[in-house]
Amino acid sequence: MNHFLDIHKTDQADLRRIIDTGIAMKQARNGRPKGTPDDDQPLAGHMVALIFEKPSTRTRVSFDVGVRQMGGQTMVLSGSEMQLGHGETIADTARVLSRYVDLIMIRTFEEQTLLDMAEHATVPVINGLTNRTHPCQIMADVMTFEEHRGPIAGRKVVWSGDGNNVFASFAHAAGQFGFDLTFTGPPTLDPEREWLDYAADKGHPITIERNPDRAVEGADLVVTDTWVSMHDPQSARERRHNQLRGYQVNEALMAKAKDDSLFMHCLPAHRDDEATSEVMDGPHSVIFDEAENRLHAQKAIMRYCLGI
Ligand code: CP
Ligand code: NVA
Repeated sequence: MNHFLDIHKTDQADLRRIIDTGIAMKQARNGRPKGTPDDDQPLAGHMVALIFEKPSTRTRVSFDVGVRQMGGQTMVLSGSEMQLGHGETIADTARVLSRYVDLIMIRTFEEQTLLDMAEHATVPVINGLTNRTHPCQIMADVMTFEEHRGPIAGRKVVWSGDGNNVFASFAHAAGQFGFDLTFTGPPTLDPEREWLDYAADKGHPITIERNPDRAVEGADLVVTDTWVSMHDPQSARERRHNQLRGYQVNEALMAKAKDDSLFMHCLPAHRDDEATSEVMDGPHSVIFDEAENRLHAQKAIMRYCLGI
């Protein structure tokens, strides 16, 4: 069995296989009604627990649908309704759940919660987002880029905005998939040093360019995310807006990237803050392909975790 905790903790060859499997599984479904089962049913007889300590639309629905398409069953659990939210340890929760279910996906706050779950579970654990990373999202993003534009290796990806958890998984992916990543944002919202060091050690140092116009020159892909994440204090909202206003992805900025550049946003978005509706609904945008590909990429991740 394999956990899927982070992109930098997963072998390069396994990451490549997951992307290729996700694309193949998507093609195999080709136009079939969404509720119908896949031809092969690798999760038949399997029960998957989906634990959410934070809100979710895409992660919740795409995992649930993905498990059912592959013949398995799910139970969606809210952290606050479990004993976990009332003092039971993660370790005990992990041991107990492992007696009932075959796979655990958890969306949580502290990275340590995920690590404790993985350490004490005897079934695979998947990271459905923590305050620090969001690896399933970036697997879907890599898949989306490659479907539209071919191999991502050697291409230029520019992140504009907050150096947050989604950026962190892009930094890990830059090291593992071999693309050039540029961060443009204010110094106060720089990514963690550890993520920059990781990509540099893997031979793909991240460029920091404070000027967004210069940053996006030659970009194959421009990415942004909400200016205020679920773990950020809501009181930070106004300050964040003042700091990040100049990093909005709008048509003027996209015009400075390559003509055939793509635009991504993991969603949910605050339209006309981090990106304008013109860009989100415009010709460069692949945001809904990204959302769809959560389903296909995660089906491949679950197969990798269970070795099936
Ligand atoms: N992108 C993403 O993870 O969305 P949800 O928060 O809706 O799951
Ligand atoms: N950075 C965002 C991503 C949401 C999918 C958050 O953590 O809230």
